[in-house]
Amino acid sequence: MAGGPAAKGLFLTLEGIDGSGKSTQARRLAAALESEGLAVQRTREPGGSPGAEEIRRLLVEGPAGRWSAETELLLFTAARRDHLERTIAPALARGAVVICDRFADSTRVYQGLARGALRAETDRLHAAFIGIEPALTFVLDMDPEVALARGRARGGAEHRFEAMGSDFQHRLRAGFRALAAEFPDRCRLIDAGRDETEVAEEIAALALAALSGEAAR
Ligand code: TMP
Repeated sequence: MAGGPAAKGLFLTLEGIDGSGKSTQARRLAAALESEGLAVQRTREPGGSPGAEEIRRLLVEGPAGRWSAETELLLFTAARRDHLERTIAPALARGAVVICDRFADSTRVYQGLARGALRAETDRLHAAFIGIEPALTFVLDMDPEVALARGRARGGAEHRFEAMGSDFQHRLRAGFRALAAEFPDRCRLIDAGRDETEVAEEIAALALAALSGEAAR
């Protein structure tokens, strides 16, 4: 659907372990692109549409053992479908740059690899119900111990995945690094352990280069 001929905008995603600074970087990237006069739709997963935000609460709150990896896979995919129909596809169709904090790569790594060995099922559901990939994905890579401490300092109730512990975050980091190597054309591995502004400048430069590449087509 959104990747079809009607899609005019550019779809960018940020991925990484919990506490890797994606949300801050998504905000900074949106501001950088808006200052270049571009129309930007910033959004996030799970969530990004009213129905998907309701599903989000089911997924990120409560005890770690609340859902199996299989049930999570179905819930994340259901949330993504609603988000795609109601937010992402319309924004791309009107020519906006969509900046999404997490997308299908999170499911590939969290449910497909770290929570359970469900990569084949994840890919099948993605092909059946989602069917689009970002033009460019920034994979924010950093030490899980530093990231976990950052995430815990945030407060709030959304700690279900962080509560799965340090080994889990180390598996996620390895998974995201492997994913970046699996999709070298669209993934850029970013050293997110650096100063926030340095990271933001690198991401903005890569996004602007991708946009000028699209414009030249
Ligand atoms: P967030 O804290 O980045 O908003 O994401 C919420 C949590 O949901 C985070 O711990 C990662 C997890 N997650 C998955 O396990 N699978 C997914 O497909 C997505 C989008 C997020």
